[in-house]
Amino acid sequence: MERLDPDKLPRHVAIIMDGNGRWAKRRGLTRIAGHQKGTESVRDIVRTSRELGIKWLTLYAFSEENWKRPSYEVKALMGLLNRYLKSELKEMLDNGIRLACIGQTEKLPPEVQRTLWQTIEETEHNTEMTLTLALSYGGRQEIVRAVKKMLGDIEKGTLQVNRITEERLSEYLYTADTPDPDLLIRTSGEYRISNFLLWQVAYTEIFITPTLWPDFRKERYLEALLDYQKRERRFGTTGEQTIHPE
Ligand code: IPE
Ligand code: IPE
Ligand code: MG
Repeated sequence: MERLDPDKLPRHVAIIMDGNGRWAKRRGLTRIAGHQKGTESVRDIVRTSRELGIKWLTLYAFSEENWKRPSYEVKALMGLLNRYLKSELKEMLDNGIRLACIGQTEKLPPEVQRTLWQTIEETEHNTEMTLTLALSYGGRQEIVRAVKKMLGDIEKGTLQVNRITEERLSEYLYTADTPDPDLLIRTSGEYRISNFLLWQVAYTEIFITPTLWPDFRKERYLEALLDYQKRERRFGTTGEQTIHPE
C-alpha cells in the first residue's frame, strides 16, 4: 500500500459510524450484537488516529433522531456507551486523549451523564488528541440552539446584530473551539449527512465506503486517508490558484 504523507494528514476527521444493524443481520445476529462489534472498531479507529497524530476525531455515536428507535435498542446503546467510556479511560489517560462531547447530552440517562462528565473531567488536561462524541446530536438542533443563545445575548446587549459574522455564529455552536472537519467518512454506503455537523462540513472532503462500521478497521481507515491526500481542496478558487497560491 502507498504510504501516507505525515505532513498532509487531516487535522480533523469526523465519522458517521453506520451499518452495525446490517452487519449483524447478515450474520443472523441481533442488532445489539452489531453495536457491540462496532465498539471494537471505535477502539481501533481511535487508536490509529492517535498513532498517526490526528489532532481531532469526532464520532457520530447517537443522533437526535436515534431516540425514535425501539426502546430496548436505545437502552442497549446507552449501556454500551457507559461501558465503553469506563473501559477506555485508562487508554485515554495513557495516550493523552481528551474526551469531549456535543449534543443534547442532558437527555442521556443520568448514569451515562455521570460517566461521561467524569471522563471529560479526568481527561481535560490531555493535549495529544481530542476525541469528540456526538451524542443525542442533531445539526439543525445545534443551529436552533445557537440562534436562541445569540438572541439572548442581543437582548442582554452583549451582542450587536451588525457584529454577527460566520466566525461569530461558529462560536455559538457546540464546536466553538474545534476546527471544521477536513475529512468526513461515512461507512455502509449511504450517501447522506443524516443531520451531522451541517454548518461545519461546508468545505469538508467526503469519503463514503460500502464497508459496514464493524468491519471498518485500520486498513480501511488508511485507505480513506490516502484517498483524502490525493484530493485537491480548492475552497472556491481555481485549480491553478491552489497549486501556486499568491
Ligand atoms: C450505526 O449503525 C449505529 C447507530 C446509528 C447508533 P445502525 O444501527 O444505524 O446500522 P444500520 O444502518 O441499521 O445497518
Ligand atoms: C446516523 O446513522 C447516525 C449515527 C451514525 C449515530 P443512522 O443510521 O441513524 O442514519 P439514517 O437513519 O440511515 O439516515
Ligand atoms: Mg444506520
